[in-house]
Amino acid sequence: MTALTLSTSAAAGLRADAVVVGVAKGAKGPVLASGAEAVDEAYEGKLAAILETLGASGAEGEVTKLPAPAGYKSPVVVAVGLGEVPEKDADHAAETLRRAAGVAARALSGAKKAGFAFPLAGPGAVAAVAEGILLGAYAFDAYKAGNGDAKGAKAPLAEAALLGGKPRDKAHKAAVERALAVSEELNRARDLVNTPPNDLNPEAFAAIASAAAKENGIKVQVLDEKALAKGGFGGILGVGAGSASPPRLVKLSYTHAKAKRHLAFVGKGITYDSGGISLKPAGHNETMKCDMAGAAAVFAAVVAAARLGLEVNVTGWLALAENMPSGSATRPGDVLRMYSGKTVEVLNTDAEGRLVLADALTKAGEEKPDVIVDVATLTGAMMLALGLRTFGIMSNDDALRATVHELAEQAGEPSWPMPLPSHLRKGMDTPTADIANMGERAGGGLVAGLFLKEFVAEGISWAHLDIAGPAYNEQAPFGYTPKGGTGTAVRTLVALAERAAAGDLD
Ligand code: BES
Ligand code: MN
Ligand code: ZN
Repeated sequence: MTALTLSTSAAAGLRADAVVVGVAKGAKGPVLASGAEAVDEAYEGKLAAILETLGASGAEGEVTKLPAPAGYKSPVVVAVGLGEVPEKDADHAAETLRRAAGVAARALSGAKKAGFAFPLAGPGAVAAVAEGILLGAYAFDAYKAGNGDAKGAKAPLAEAALLGGKPRDKAHKAAVERALAVSEELNRARDLVNTPPNDLNPEAFAAIASAAAKENGIKVQVLDEKALAKGGFGGILGVGAGSASPPRLVKLSYTHAKAKRHLAFVGKGITYDSGGISLKPAGHNETMKCDMAGAAAVFAAVVAAARLGLEVNVTGWLALAENMPSGSATRPGDVLRMYSGKTVEVLNTDAEGRLVLADALTKAGEEKPDVIVDVATLTGAMMLALGLRTFGIMSNDDALRATVHELAEQAGEPSWPMPLPSHLRKGMDTPTADIANMGERAGGGLVAGLFLKEFVAEGISWAHLDIAGPAYNEQAPFGYTPKGGTGTAVRTLVALAERAAAGDLD
């Protein structure tokens, strides 16, 4: 990952490939953001005018490269658009800085070093810029031929110096440390999502999680297919029944001696979702390696919580299975006996996520955590409802739903509260079993949420994040979001753990 330093160097003397400045979109043309003062002076105070001449407006996502001023040790200045100028006296929003830093980092892929002469008003801005750089400078090239620069993709920016950062300031240092831990784990979640499903099956995922857990002092327990059968995990086994790669349930326990709260995170980990016997048509299964993005987010968040040493207990549950059709696969019409004892008639084997989650939710509830949050690429319906960048939040607790939404917003992860209308429950009634795994088509994302709710123990606050839209970006990269796995929900989960550690989660 990109090396990050807080630097007191002057922009002029920095030996790098580029110096980056921010430029906002003013009513009368581009307006330089703070941090760029010295660079502007070197252009004799004309940098904004030069940028305007070059056609720059300061719009979000815009990148303008120009020769550095005479005497500069770096050859290029990169001006990156921040969008609208903030209200009078206000600072740029954290997410604005994060995105702009990400855009700059992406524009600088292939470069060795860049200096960021960005607005760094305080530790919040330092954190945002650091995170934007670390998340923007991401490439998944493990499967590209050749090495280093010969690979198909350019290597991410190797080193970034935050000019004007305070290397001796505790808060600045802590902001960089946190950004490093969170971003490194988030990028690892992206790697897992991007890894093709012939290499990342449930067993392989469990092995990676176990190794990382051990490195970070997290207790790990893996239930293999035998243990799952012995334990009666009918949902996880039913989904995995058609695959040559058997399912796993991974438990990651991070504990802190001073913890007063216990959070449980549950992730959907379908390493490939073909739909099973209710096979997905061509055009709908090419990206279904992404169906373990919930489990990847949970894994990353637990490891990040451990690395940050948060004073909270966090248990991560990864419900891992591959959904494949075969002679041994679950059929539409089969009835599964779930870990909770409830029976489920499987009417559509493509509604598999709720089945693996149901077992994991019941198991997670046995420890009576204060809060359970599950994360899942659960329904196409949520993508239709909220688009491709926003995840839905459903909950049995209004306060928790609001808290998750607020923390997600601060973290830079767009989300929206969704209801769980009780009238939709009867659509899952079936004469054969306690519940069917499908209900009304209308409100399909909410129906899935209502199904999960049946497996959450009475009295536990629970939230369900349906990340089907934002988990995987098939469109062009934007801000600090690359193509492919995005790592969505990691930062929201970490923020929730921090909130709990601070004792502010009631
Ligand atoms: N993994 C899919 C949901 C999904 C679709 C995630 C597209 C990411 C992108 C899930 O298992 C699924 O197939 N859901 C079905 C449920 C239906 C059969 C009730 C859906 O949404 O169509
Ligand atoms: Mn499916
Ligand atoms: Zn799925």
